[in-house]
Formats: sequence, C-alpha cells, structure tokens
Amino acid sequence: MKVELAKSAGFCFGVEKAVNTVYEEAKKGNDIVYTLGPIIHNEEVVKDMKKRGVEAVRIEDLASLPKGTVIIRSHGVSREIFNFVKRSGHRVVDATCPFVKKIHAIVSVQSGKGKTVVIIGNPEHPEVMGIRGWGDENTYAVENIEQFINLELKKDKEIIIVAQTTFNHKKFQEIIDKISLLGYDVRCFNTICNATQERQAEAKNIASNVDAMIVIGDKKSSNTGKLVEICQEECKNTVFIQTLEDLDYDALLSVDSVGITAGASTPKHIIEEVQNIVRSKF
Ligand code: F3S
Repeated sequence: MKVELAKSAGFCFGVEKAVNTVYEEAKKGNDIVYTLGPIIHNEEVVKDMKKRGVEAVRIEDLASLPKGTVIIRSHGVSREIFNFVKRSGHRVVDATCPFVKKIHAIVSVQSGKGKTVVIIGNPEHPEVMGIRGWGDENTYAVENIEQFINLELKKDKEIIIVAQTTFNHKKFQEIIDKISLLGYDVRCFNTICNATQERQAEAKNIASNVDAMIVIGDKKSSNTGKLVEICQEECKNTVFIQTLEDLDYDALLSVDSVGITAGASTPKHIIEEVQNIVRSKF
C-alpha cells in the first residue's frame, strides 16, 4: 500500500514555540508554572504537561493561586487580560505566536485611528476573542457574509479586515469579494498564517490522489476540523482520529493508497505512531 505523509503535518512554528516554552519553564523547577487555559488544543499534550506539574488555569483563579509563572498561549489574549495577568503578581511569559501578535498590532493601530475593524473568523474562538480585545467597540468578528450584513455597518467609512490565522483561505476570499460587491470600501490584511495555507493545500493535494485519508488531531482543534473539511471534499473516505486508538483498520482494508495529515496541535509522536502502524499493517 502506498502511504503518503504530509510534510506539513503537525506542530506549526507558533505551537512548537509555545510548547517548548512551557517545557523549558517547567524544567527550570524554580517556580510553579501555569498556562492560561490549555496551552494547545490537544488533550495528550495537556496531560503530559500536568505530569510535569504544569497546570492549565483560568483567569478568574489567578488571584487565589500561589504566585508562579503564567504562560500565555500561542492564541494570545486581549489587551485587558494581558494587563490583568501582568498586575496579578505572577511572572508573565508571553508565548503568543508572533503572527497573532502582528494581528493584535494591526487591530490596535487601526482601531486607534478610529477605523472600523472586522475580523473574519469564529467569534467564539479564543484567538479571535483575543484579537478583538485589541480594538474598541467598533471592532467586530464575523465568520460569514450573513453575520457581516447583520452588523449594518455604514458604507461611507473604510473597513479594515483581518483574518483569524487558521481561517480557510478560499472562504476568506469569498467573504471579502461579497463585502466589496455590497459596496463597502475595504482594506484587507490577509493575516491567514502561511503554515495553515500550506497545510491545507498539501492536504487537499494528497487527499485528491489517495483512496483514504487520515486526519489526526484533537476533536476541539479548529484547524484540524478545517483540514477534515478540505480532505472530505477531495476524498469521501476521510477519517478523523485523535490517537491511534481511534483508527478503524477495517476501513483501510480495501484501499491501495492512504494519505496522512495532522493539525497544528498534533504532537509528532502521535503522527509517527499512526504512520508506522499504517505502513506495517497494510
Ligand atoms: Fe502561529 Fe500560524 Fe501556528 S499563526 S500558532 S504559526 S498556525
């Protein structure tokens, strides 16, 4: 059987940097280490960190916790939360991905100039909520054209548009085109991360050439969910697994070729395990 593993499968630069930061801080051993929320959307990694004494905590718990080091995850946080953590008496280590920080800067500058800012992304996603928190009351988040129309924004002012880093490139372009067609003057910053674009393009390409496609990632990971969507469009036989235990071997019995990819928060060892088993069993 032909097995093709996507080169871009697994941790992206920002996640790798954040995860390494946590392990480095834990290794120092001179402080209690907290992460503000789970460092990434991957249960396996969070469990492993817990074993090393790293606790994922909530913002509202900070005041009552013994003082330690608080690591801000790669998704980033709003300006208000950032300042709150800084004032909490804990040491702060900011592991926000530099690409997300760049969006914070765009939103902060444009909003400071009095511009209306629209973030194209899932309004409930922590990254988007964080980005929104660098703007003012004229900063919005929408994930489709209907939500944009419902904002009822005036057409006499330029609108600044940014994207959630993991947003689907094609959908982003479609939404921008529709907004322009409605007669809005838009200035668009394409802030979709290259890592996501490359992973999506490679997954699409592999999925269109194989009989079955395996996508590995946490069920809560939004970028993995999008990979599944893209792969399903190209290959009906796409399976979404979190670890090797979820793999249904029967589904692979009658296929000649299998493609494998994984979301940005999937650790290398899980990808290796799946790849090795698929290569050895079939
Ligand atoms: Fe950063 Fe891109 Fe990853 S924005 S966290 S490198 S997907």
